[in-house]
Amino acid sequence: MSKKKILITWPLPEAVMARARATYDVIAHGDNPKITVDEMLETAKSVDAILLTLNEKCPAPVIERVPDNIKCISTFSIGFDHIDLEACKKRGIKVGNAPHGVTVATAEIAMLLLLGSARRASEGEHMMRTRSWPGWQPLQLVGQRLDNKKLGIYGFGKIGQALAQRARGFDMEIHYYDIYRAKPEVEAKYNATYHDSLDSLLKISQFFSINAPSTPETRYFFNKDVIEKLPQGAIVVNTARGDLVKDEDMIAALKAGRLGYAGLDVFAGEPKINEGYYDLPNTFLFPHLGSAAIEARNQMGFEALDNIDAFFAGKDMPFKLA
Ligand code: DGY
Repeated sequence: MSKKKILITWPLPEAVMARARATYDVIAHGDNPKITVDEMLETAKSVDAILLTLNEKCPAPVIERVPDNIKCISTFSIGFDHIDLEACKKRGIKVGNAPHGVTVATAEIAMLLLLGSARRASEGEHMMRTRSWPGWQPLQLVGQRLDNKKLGIYGFGKIGQALAQRARGFDMEIHYYDIYRAKPEVEAKYNATYHDSLDSLLKISQFFSINAPSTPETRYFFNKDVIEKLPQGAIVVNTARGDLVKDEDMIAALKAGRLGYAGLDVFAGEPKINEGYYDLPNTFLFPHLGSAAIEARNQMGFEALDNIDAFFAGKDMPFKLA
């Protein structure tokens, strides 16, 4: 029997490509230049499924142009805000994501941002790289410790909980808000205090971590009004999606010292970011590194392939979205 053909829109880790090639006839797009939506749709005419990434934006008008032969899309990401699922349902296209591989790696990056923001790591690095370190000084780049500080986690899913576990290792006090309250045994595991409203969480969060998905309800929730509810000088980290934050409000608050620091791994409109962030000393900025660990990227690829395998076997995708 001839192999099914799949399009993989970016080169993925070797182990993932090897597994894909063992089962499928793979068309893999090179990463330079990045695949355009038009190229993706053109190539899609000659394949049976698409494995894409969060770079390939698929709003309804793009999904409407997907050739009829494509009934399976699997995304190499936990996030799926780049795909209009309703439009896929209308076209009878099954969609799956890769929800587990990212957990630990993203929680590690959130922890690194918390620690780096509290201890002013980016300013220290900058001082070294610009060869401007005058030597040790008692008041130089004095930050604060994490221990006994209150960490508010907005979104207590797998990544929020993995962050709680790590932050506990730094003796932080864990608080969270989520539309779903965690089971008592989960709260007990992390000694986590549930808040029944975002306002209640904000009020006590000396450190605030954004771990919620981007949805119509959460988009741009982190605005001036929300910032005003945080303690003076609070530190905010975001490893979820950039469009949860209203950049102008965040930048104004960082400038005014209302927020102490922001550790950001994700940005609205990536890879372009609001220029204001670059000029602020109290930001610690990463280029969407959350899942950039080989263990994570391998697992993400395997999960994305599991969906495609299930589709061709006539089964439900294990990580089905639509
Ligand atoms: C995801 O999987 O959605 C992450 O943002 C990738 O790092």
